[in-house]
Amino acid sequence: MDWGIENRLSRLIREDGRCQFLPVDHGYFQGPTSCLEKPSETIKGLLPYADGLFVTRGVLRSSVPANCQTPIILRVSGGTSIIGADLSNETITTSIDEIIRLNAAAVGISIFVGSEYEKQTLTNLARLVDQCEGFGIPVMAVTAVGKELEKREARYLGLSSRIAAELGARIVKTYYCPEDFEKVTEGCPVPVVIAGGPKCETELEVFEFVYDGIQKGAIGVNLGRNVWQSPHPVPMMRALNAIIHKNSTPKEAQGLFEELSSKQ
Ligand code: 5RP
Repeated sequence: MDWGIENRLSRLIREDGRCQFLPVDHGYFQGPTSCLEKPSETIKGLLPYADGLFVTRGVLRSSVPANCQTPIILRVSGGTSIIGADLSNETITTSIDEIIRLNAAAVGISIFVGSEYEKQTLTNLARLVDQCEGFGIPVMAVTAVGKELEKREARYLGLSSRIAAELGARIVKTYYCPEDFEKVTEGCPVPVVIAGGPKCETELEVFEFVYDGIQKGAIGVNLGRNVWQSPHPVPMMRALNAIIHKNSTPKEAQGLFEELSSKQ
């Protein structure tokens, strides 16, 4: 592996081989998402516990201090909105010059396998890999499902993740599924991180799916709404950190969450 790629990945993935990314990129297609209206306030207490911040260039420049030491994963696909015709009709939104100028540790791009724009989003990924690898910048592929949340099952996720890796992604972000998630991670030759999805009913549900996903081969998470839409975002972030980096069980994480929340 090229030194630049290896160096950037080593900033994002800790020595234990695990990572906890914090995504705040949701506004790029859904506008001022609940609890993310003011990104600078949302991230303030959470950044110290994040191994990477997933963000667009607009929010990075406007809302993240330039002395931020958390590595940046720059969201570089978009061009669609939740009220538009088709979320999958994405393009690359950020030039390689911008990616370098903003000192990104990695970039993230969505692919929509099985959608009307499958070929376009897969070509976007391939083109981005061509541009970024030349400068030692790893690409994280996001296997997006658009509004079709029912696609979150192992066969589909395994197919999308494998295709992303084949096209050159260095990390794949995909959804967890309770059935056969190990088939998704085993079929993907690059590290897999778990995306969150809409907020769960209870914290324990989140701790359980993250724990199970890691036992089944994921190296970490990229969890947004289940962290910052919680009434206690910092305790949530820290409890997840304990599962990811300290091998805590869901029960232990719940205990830590309750202890930290009660002190707030
Ligand atoms: C949006 C994204 C988000 O980064 C991803 O969905 C993770 O956030 P959440 O846990 O809130 O789903 O890629 O397209």
